[in-house]
Amino acid sequence: MTEKAQYDVIGQRYARMKENAAFCVADSHTLLDALRACGDLRGKPALDVACGHGDIARLLAGRGASPVIGVDVSAEMVRLARALEHREPRGIRYLVADAAELPVLGRFAVATASYLFNYAPTRAVKRAMFAAIRANLAPDGTLLAIVPNTGPFLEEAHGAAGARLVERVPGGEAPLMRMEFLSDPPVPFAYYEWQRADYEQAAREAGFGNVRWQSTRTPPPDERWNAAFWEDYQRAPRSSLLICR
Ligand SMILES: C[S@@+](CC[C@H](N)C(=O)[O-])C[C@H]1O[C@@H](n2cnc3c(N)ncnc32)[C@H](O)[C@@H]1O
Repeated sequence: MTEKAQYDVIGQRYARMKENAAFCVADSHTLLDALRACGDLRGKPALDVACGHGDIARLLAGRGASPVIGVDVSAEMVRLARALEHREPRGIRYLVADAAELPVLGRFAVATASYLFNYAPTRAVKRAMFAAIRANLAPDGTLLAIVPNTGPFLEEAHGAAGARLVERVPGGEAPLMRMEFLSDPPVPFAYYEWQRADYEQAAREAGFGNVRWQSTRTPPPDERWNAAFWEDYQRAPRSSLLICR
């Protein structure tokens, strides 16, 4: 199975994993904080690339962005996103498309790409993804991209982290990370281990003039994840947010 097609199989199980993984909750807080800094989104067009089942597209719509378009290479993820939209409409349109070959769908004020760029197998594909998204942004538009961090924490089978590393396969332009979502049963998936500098370089080569990282935000402690848990998480967050203008 190609890396592109893997989410056709993962489908619903990914949606369930997201609800129970601490890093996903932290990601939402980080993204929301960055979206607030983008100003009032009401009535402004927003694009969510690699939308999966539509979590972030719905978050954009919840902040009043309109229209909101979600795109994903997986027909199954788009089917799930459309089914949720049908049950609980937010006015979001979903399309199946490869981010590296994304046509111009509009001039968006904001684009989000959460765990997209780590699926680029080569630098050329990564650059093409950034360039296609940039072509979809208004001149003052912003891309918010969540990417996985690298580090020894990947070796830990940490339930709240949602996933664990099975095998790191060297070769190609970046090692292939064979991972497993810690769902029941576990679900395998794979992505490429790029470094922060690789993402920055691709963004700059695609024409973004202002590229910077925002630190991870975490939610207030509760009975599920206490203050000590989040302090620990802040020392080795699973992901980073890249802001490109
Ligand atoms: C880990 S999921 C993230 C989904 C969603 N962004 C989120 O954060 O919940 C990765 C998604 O990227 C999609 N994807 C992978 N390669 C892609 C590509 N070349 N173009 C568009 N989507 C892609 C997958 O189909 C999958 O839905």
